[in-house]
Amino acid sequence: AQTPVKVTVTGAAGQIGYALLFRIASGQLLGADVPVKLSLLEIPQAVKAAEGTAMELDDCAFPLLSGIEITDDPNVAFNGANVALLVGAMPRKAGMERGDLLEANGGIFGPQGKAINDHAADDIRVLVVGNPANTNALIAQQHAPDVPAERFTAMTRLDHNRALSQLAAKLQVPVTEIKKMTIWGNHSATQYPDLFHAEVGGKIAAELVDEGWLRDTFIPTVAKRGAAIIEARGASSAASAANAAIDHVYDWVNGAEWTSAAIPSDGSYGVPEGLISSFPVASRNGKWEIIQGLEIDAFSRERIDASVRELEEERDAVRQLGLI
Ligand code: NAI
Repeated sequence: AQTPVKVTVTGAAGQIGYALLFRIASGQLLGADVPVKLSLLEIPQAVKAAEGTAMELDDCAFPLLSGIEITDDPNVAFNGANVALLVGAMPRKAGMERGDLLEANGGIFGPQGKAINDHAADDIRVLVVGNPANTNALIAQQHAPDVPAERFTAMTRLDHNRALSQLAAKLQVPVTEIKKMTIWGNHSATQYPDLFHAEVGGKIAAELVDEGWLRDTFIPTVAKRGAAIIEARGASSAASAANAAIDHVYDWVNGAEWTSAAIPSDGSYGVPEGLISSFPVASRNGKWEIIQGLEIDAFSRERIDASVRELEEERDAVRQLGLI
């Protein structure tokens, strides 16, 4: 039988964790024939809740689930890990400045990056979900000098899926008819969902909608969807975030023609090298590749640049705080 793949999930007792773990254990993260071993990392106060979730995982009798480990020690959690989903993060609290938020998260993602560096398997792949995701991924990466830099990624797949769904509803087409959707930049309100390369039935999506809708409805609806969910549900997106994490890792491992992921920039499209920014990407042979050769018009350029500027500011802030 195949050796199980070790998947480490941080913040396992949180709401995304609850929506995520059962899908991983059922085979949706890696494939229906890949056995998995789960490692749940939590803070000490939440270990008991994680144990409760583990009891429920046991009660599903998932054929592919070969074991569950629960710990509050990153060195244990990431030991031999092949996939790490970094979900647990410090949320912004009322009155918190950006510097405070970055610093609190630096205290989480720095040590986790180091633990990954020291203990993870050679093929480790890291997806950061916890916000601010792009910069948390950068912090973890910078603490893992022995791991290839491109193994650290951040999630913009939820934004990508939201963009697909909004466009499909507008054009009254199934989401499967939409190709080449792209989210550029930061997973934040400055992100840029791009319809100038997206195609519907072979036509450019931006040409199928009016400019006012694209600019004043589509872009802000996608970018602010997280806030709209909180407003409606009284809690932040969890099942859709878990779903996007599954999509991201599945595609990374199994291949994809065109999707969105925040990966370390190689300087493509004027995004400074090293920033973990969202791009149009393909996945081949287990690696993300930035899709090259797209023409970027002035409308898109301005918006990509604004989001990338925000990423640079976050990077400069964590540098100044000595977090990287
Ligand atoms: P939650 O508050 O329900 O759960 C977070 C869990 O992380 C808690 O159980 C907490 O104990 C744990 N945690 C905190 N620090 C930890 C540490 N150092 N090590 C291990 N575990 C730790 O939050 P939820 O709803 O599950 O969201 C998690 C994160 O995902 C948040 O930062 C949220 O902003 C982010 N998010 C990102 C999205 C994206 O598209 N990139 C979408 C939705 C949420």
